[in-house]
Amino acid sequence: MRIVFIGPPGAGKGTQAAQLTGRLKIPHLSTGEMLRQAVADGAPAGKLAAKYVDTGRLVPDDVVVNVIGERLKHPDCKNGCLFDGFPRNEAQAAALDAYLGKYDKQVDLVLVLQVPENVLLERLLDRGRGDDNLQTIQERFQQYESGTKPLLGYYTRRGILHSIDGTGTPGEVFQRILAVVDK
Ligand code: AP5
Ligand code: MG
Repeated sequence: MRIVFIGPPGAGKGTQAAQLTGRLKIPHLSTGEMLRQAVADGAPAGKLAAKYVDTGRLVPDDVVVNVIGERLKHPDCKNGCLFDGFPRNEAQAAALDAYLGKYDKQVDLVLVLQVPENVLLERLLDRGRGDDNLQTIQERFQQYESGTKPLLGYYTRRGILHSIDGTGTPGEVFQRILAVVDK
C-alpha cells in the first residue's frame, strides 16, 4: 500500500505517520526529514536545499524528486511506503505517478489532515524546530495554500482522497485515520 499524507505545517503528518507506519510495517518517507538530514550531513542535496528549508520555501522539484527517487530504490519500499510531505505540488505528484507507473504501482490512498491555523501556529511555536519562527511559519502556510492545496483536487478526481479532522489528541486523530485505512 502506498499512502500519502498531506497537511499544512504542524498538522501532525510526522506524528501520525510514525504511528501508522509502525502498525502497517512500511517505511516512513518524510522529505522534510531527508532534507534536514542532507543539510546536517553537508550532502550535495543539503547544500541546494538549506536556504529554502531555512526560509520555508519549497525546495526545487528536481532536488526533492531526486532525493525521494533514490530512497524508493531501497528494497524496503517494495511492498509499500508512506509519503509524509511529498508530493507538495502537482509537478511532484506527476513525477511520483510516473515513477510508480514504471513498476505498475500507484498511490492508493491520500489522507489530508485538517487543522485550523491558530492551532497549527500554537503547535509549531511550542515545538521550536529550526524553521518554527513566525516569519518562516507564515511562508510555509503560504506555500501550502498556493502550491499544495491544488493537489487536493488532483487526488479527489482520482477518488482516493480522504479528509481527516486533525484536531484533538494524537490518539484521537490516529483512530480517525485507522477508521479510513482499515476500510
Ligand atoms: P516538513 O518537514 O515537511 O515540514 P512541514 O510541512 O512544515 O510540517 P511539519 O513537519 O512542521 O509538521 P507536521 O505536519 O509533520 O506535524 P508534526 O507531527 O511534526 O518540511 C520542511 C521544509 O522542507 C519545507 O518548508 C520545505 O522547505 C522542505 N520540503 C519538505 N518536503 C518538500 C517537498 N516535497 N518539496 C519541496 N520542499 C520540501 O507536529 C507538529 C507539532 O505538533 C509537534 O510538536 C507535535 O508533537 C505536535 N502535535 C502533533 N499532533 C498533535 C495533536 N494532535 N495535538 C497536539 N499537538 C500535536
Ligand atoms: Mg513533519
